[in-house]
Amino acid sequence: MRTELETTQETDRAADAEYMQAVVRDRYVNADGLEVRAVDRPGISAGQVLIHVRAAGVDRGVWHLMTGEPYAMRLAVGLSKPKQPVLGLDVSGRVVAVGADVTRFQPGDEVFGIASGSFAEYAAADEAKLVHKPANLPWEHAAVAAISGGTALQALTDVGDVQAGQRVLVVGASGGVGTYAVQLAKALGADVTGVCSTAKVDVVRSIGADHVIDYTQGDYLDGAATYDLILDIGGRNSVARLRRALTATGTLVIVGGEDGGRLTGGIGRQLRAMVLSPFIRQNLKSFIQKEHHTQIERLAEHLESGAVVPVIERTVALPGVADALRDLEAGRVRGKIAVSVRNHE
Ligand SMILES: NC(=O)c1ccc[n+]([C@@H]2O[C@H](COP(=O)([O-])OP(=O)(O)OC[C@H]3O[C@@H](n4cnc5c(N)ncnc54)[C@H](OP(=O)(O)O)[C@@H]3O)[C@@H](O)[C@H]2O)c1
Repeated sequence: MRTELETTQETDRAADAEYMQAVVRDRYVNADGLEVRAVDRPGISAGQVLIHVRAAGVDRGVWHLMTGEPYAMRLAVGLSKPKQPVLGLDVSGRVVAVGADVTRFQPGDEVFGIASGSFAEYAAADEAKLVHKPANLPWEHAAVAAISGGTALQALTDVGDVQAGQRVLVVGASGGVGTYAVQLAKALGADVTGVCSTAKVDVVRSIGADHVIDYTQGDYLDGAATYDLILDIGGRNSVARLRRALTATGTLVIVGGEDGGRLTGGIGRQLRAMVLSPFIRQNLKSFIQKEHHTQIERLAEHLESGAVVPVIERTVALPGVADALRDLEAGRVRGKIAVSVRNHE
């Protein structure tokens, strides 16, 4: 427990700092183009909170923001160059300042959630994208949770409407979203089958999957086994093949999948599924994660109770972010990579 004096001293030190170290790119690059350098500390608007960052998380969204691919996303994040030069989304840390309209936080609070530019010593976050960090949750665990865990929870519940006793197939069970999906589906009472590559079978088994399928060893979508709910997180299987492994009234939730093309990222697969769905008995769905504290709070309950434990392959410092993103792109990461920003000592 920190004393009031310690918290005040930390807040004062934060107020003095003009610059901070951050992982930066001034244009869309691959991992070789990332720099760790001093930049201005971010300002905050009325609805924002300034966080002294303790840890951050690496995820596929960060890779897309780094490269600006698929190109369609540049309409939102900057056409010719990124509007936000500092990389990073997932965050945990301590609040050091709050905007005039902020009501849920005050300086000294320990928080986690989503902050654009979290690979830095300080990050500005919308109040609506943060929650209080459970006291028993380590900083690194909190820092890899909101995006991947929040996506998995929303896919299973709000979109997939999972019920206890259902048979659930998680395609991409060894990755960022999948390692949460397996654990959450088990916590919600489902019978869970996880699909992954040979090298990661042990990880998926260790997080409680009832059955694990190595996708290199045969066609798991041939219809020999069928599922009430399929979460399609990796591999970009066609909708027709995924439907073969669904029960007659089962639900397919398309979460994502890489290598869909540089222009749109292959969003056509999701669109085709949504157009087809009203004409068949199976439900074919897709969604974009709601980045809102109500979602993150639901996830925090599972983290606090220990029902879900983030799978962290390793923790890197800011200079290690480039290698972490190379490993993510190459499919080498088991679960998540955390980024430790050791600026509090
Ligand atoms: N809808 C949304 O709002 C939302 C939110 C977050 C993420 N996403 C998207 O979801 C996708 C996954 O994100 P992530 O963070 O979990 O990525 P990740 O950590 O890189 O995991 C990718 C997963 O896909 C699996 N995979 C790769 N090739 C496969 C194949 N041929 N067959 C079956 N599985 C295969 C991987 O298994 P192995 O490593 O064992 O090969 C791994 O489990 C990304 O495209 C991301 O952009 C969408």
